[in-house]
Amino acid sequence: MSNSKSNNPNNIALRVLFPTLINEAWYPNIEKERESLVSRIYEIRDGDKQGRELSEKQYVNGYTSYFTQKKLHNDRIFKNLLRFIREVAIDYATKQYWDLDKHTLELKGFWCNINGKNSYHRDHIHPNSQISGVVYLQCNEESPAISLKDPRAIRWHSVPPAKQNRPENSTYASITPGLGKLLMFPSWLEHGVPMNTSDEDRISMSFNFDLRAKARPWGKRK
Ligand SMILES: [Fe+2]
Repeated sequence: MSNSKSNNPNNIALRVLFPTLINEAWYPNIEKERESLVSRIYEIRDGDKQGRELSEKQYVNGYTSYFTQKKLHNDRIFKNLLRFIREVAIDYATKQYWDLDKHTLELKGFWCNINGKNSYHRDHIHPNSQISGVVYLQCNEESPAISLKDPRAIRWHSVPPAKQNRPENSTYASITPGLGKLLMFPSWLEHGVPMNTSDEDRISMSFNFDLRAKARPWGKRK
């Protein structure tokens, strides 16, 4: 076995700065809960006339509870899923050395999405949050992958030609959905979902977390 010095006589080191970190996890209860979660999401859609009307304008052929259902986190059917999402969020914050002694991760949004045939999500970010993410509850091999955009200026600059597309040289990336797969990423990361050409609805739940100070940073109220 050759030593690393002979392989690298000039001691060249490639430093990685400003990485975009994404937590990927799998919901362990998915098989057990999938059916009830999916049927509850259809029930929410069917009972949400205003949400369907707004979705028709902003999210053609799809439904999202984002505009109208602000209390899904209180729905007991999502209790285990939310506990899991919180665990993954704490892991994500901890890995980045965020100060969870003096701050707490507060769930700011939790909503369901039904990507019907021919629906898509325009590219967007989630303002005023630190962590955003999605967990897939129904999808198949034809379901579209979430697309992620490099936030650095290089995306608008001159991208060097590469021999192959790799994480080291890409300015766009996509991650395929999977049943029970959870993706967690910075809220500033631009993302979207291409058109769903499958006959099956692609169903997911999305969320935002905000990092809030536990104590009032400007001192106690007198
Ligand atoms: Fe999003």
